[in-house]
Amino acid sequence: MTTESLYSVTGFEQALSGVRPPDSPRYTVCQRLRSGYHALWYRLSDQLRWSRGIYREQPAGQLLTELSNSQRTRVAVLRRQFGVEFERQCHALTALKNYEYLDLLAQTWTDWGMSRPAGGVVHDVGSSNFWYARALRAFFRPTTLTGIEVEGYRIYPNGYSRWDYAQGYVQGLPRTKFVVADYAKYVEPADTIISWYPFVTPAPVLAWRMPLGLFAPQALFSRIASNLNPSGLFVMINQGPNEAACAARFCRKAGLVFRHSTEVRTTLRARPMPPIITCWSRC
Ligand SMILES: C[S@@+](CC[C@H](N)C(=O)[O-])C[C@H]1O[C@@H](n2cnc3c(N)ncnc32)[C@H](O)[C@@H]1O
Repeated sequence: MTTESLYSVTGFEQALSGVRPPDSPRYTVCQRLRSGYHALWYRLSDQLRWSRGIYREQPAGQLLTELSNSQRTRVAVLRRQFGVEFERQCHALTALKNYEYLDLLAQTWTDWGMSRPAGGVVHDVGSSNFWYARALRAFFRPTTLTGIEVEGYRIYPNGYSRWDYAQGYVQGLPRTKFVVADYAKYVEPADTIISWYPFVTPAPVLAWRMPLGLFAPQALFSRIASNLNPSGLFVMINQGPNEAACAARFCRKAGLVFRHSTEVRTTLRARPMPPIITCWSRC
């Protein structure tokens, strides 16, 4: 396993050619049409607040059979280090994804020379259905953990909603909850705020089937800065250097101060771009 601190965020920004954060975005007709369609579904699910009941994943009991030796070895290390066995609580794929997120955090903290966190209020911004709540609990050992998701009632083809899945994922986890809210309007102090792959350009918003009306990155990053306690940390995971540079501009504009960055080259699951993890504080 190798982790390398390759770039400062300024380095990311220099690597950036022509990708600018959308201060006043102009969307194409096609983007507007797609956004309108997603907005209909968003409004419907938000008003309906549909729940078919808690969705409980059938625990796999074992890891995916097709894992390589190096994946198995890394999982074994994580199990020992963090005392987890995700496959006892969820599907084999969800378990592997939890090991992947835990591994990214573990590599990053080692690279930054920081000791493993313990206690404090942790917010996860943009949690989808919060399938990785267990990995966050295992790593941060928080006093409270809250996953906040703006489109928390999206309905899946099987009739369950994100809310239903999230209730299953947080079940049995102490002081852990899932909140459906726009984080830009969520006023709660936190010691650690983490965001995995936040949207900083419009294209992924549409690819994720979210309406562009919900895309307000500067408001989101400003709220992150104002919710963060003075000694707190904001940890952000982006896909590749361009996205990291774009996100870094929003952070700076929100008054956040850059602390560390890491590009993780070896991940448990193949990724189209190396995850770039950066750490920010208020001063
Ligand atoms: C790229 S997805 C990442 C999902 C999840 N963090 C993961 O790693 O699988 C970004 C998520 O952020 C959510 N989101 C976007 N803007 C948000 C906001 N203002 N407040 C809360 N959630 C938001 C989206 O609905 C989406 O689920």
